[in-house]
Amino acid sequence: MPPATEIVTLMVNGDRREVGVPGHYTLLEALRYGLGLTGSKQGCDKGDCGACTVLMDGEPTLSCITPIREADGRRIVTVEGLGTARGPHPLQDEFDLHGAAQCGFCTPGILCSAAALLARSTNPSREEIREALSGNLCRCTGYTKIYEAVEAAAARMRDNG
Ligand code: FES
Ligand code: FES
Repeated sequence: MPPATEIVTLMVNGDRREVGVPGHYTLLEALRYGLGLTGSKQGCDKGDCGACTVLMDGEPTLSCITPIREADGRRIVTVEGLGTARGPHPLQDEFDLHGAAQCGFCTPGILCSAAALLARSTNPSREEIREALSGNLCRCTGYTKIYEAVEAAAARMRDNG
């Protein structure tokens, strides 16, 4: 017998979306396989790496361990919703300029975690940035370029008021 389908409503990247998915799905599975939003990455799939991080009601959330029922009716922002091709988020610009993404697998989750930090404060210390990104593992960059990119994005956001 096929698994029972649940209909959940998500506010994803500003749009109201209804999606029918098996009840055991996680938020990550619903985003990737129900809505085709594959920017959020399926890394460890058990809450260890941060590659699946999205914003749920503005808070960084590990979507791979979030049951889809918990996300019903919530406001979700994925990396696809942080900016647009014409108007990227300052973080996206600065990651590009600083070479802060190498293989890029960790990048969507890191961008979401960093975006939540900069929404709270556009003048975070290096320690605060380190803390905000402590749940996001990167095997490639050594983190320094990531921290510098976040600092540059913060400065740009301060300059833009
Ligand atoms: S894929 Fe979610 S924490 Fe690794
Ligand atoms: S850029 Fe490859 S894991 Fe971070």
